[in-house]
Amino acid sequence: MTKMTKLVAIDGPSGSGKSTVAQLLAQSLGYMYIDTGAMYRAIGFSVDQQGVAFEEGEALKKCLASMKFEYGKDSDHLVIVNGENLTEKIREHHVSKLASDISKLPIVRDFLFATQRSLGEQNFSVMEGRDIGTVVFPDSFMKVFLTATLEERANRRLLQLKRNGTTHSYEEILEDVKQRDYNDTNREIAPLKQADDATLFDTTGVPQEEVIERLKTLVNERASSLGM
Ligand code: DC
Repeated sequence: MTKMTKLVAIDGPSGSGKSTVAQLLAQSLGYMYIDTGAMYRAIGFSVDQQGVAFEEGEALKKCLASMKFEYGKDSDHLVIVNGENLTEKIREHHVSKLASDISKLPIVRDFLFATQRSLGEQNFSVMEGRDIGTVVFPDSFMKVFLTATLEERANRRLLQLKRNGTTHSYEEILEDVKQRDYNDTNREIAPLKQADDATLFDTTGVPQEEVIERLKTLVNERASSLGM
């Protein structure tokens, strides 16, 4: 058997509950939690802030080459770019679109691929994103594809944004989630896709604690069957 990475890959569309589930799962397993969406958000935010065009070319190449990107210092300093702590700013609604747009560019994906690989190789981890089980860690020992209906995902996203004081309507969020699904699924490089060997989990109507308990059981069973 090929060597497997000590990593649980959790992929799925926006609002599938990945972030909270992955975070709590990592906590309860004593694994490191790695949020790759936060990385795309930070790059989208920073490149936009610097006024650099979202297209492959010298300007973006230079911008990335000079970028000091730090991930995972602690939860209040999750992403720091060029010394600026972006942890809260990247959760603003408009940053979702910046992240989705910048994530289409191979130069950006390559840049983050290296960071993600080196982080994930260090300890037992739960890494969440869109392409973790298919591209970043196809060798992860456990792969999960989390999903839920479009309406449920829009509702969850709205609740999350309301906690941060958003005034956006359900209809706006639904459209936004639909658009992001389309962008993330149809881009040429590393599109959102369930890996052939991933376990599909539809979380529509399933309480969060139950999702975590079920995943924890799956991970533990898999780890012990592999003698990890
Ligand atoms: O998970 P999120 O909503 O924070 O992700 C923001 C955007 O980043 C998402 O629209 C697509 C992109 N992304 C990606 O392309 N690949 C990943 N592994 C994670 C996120």
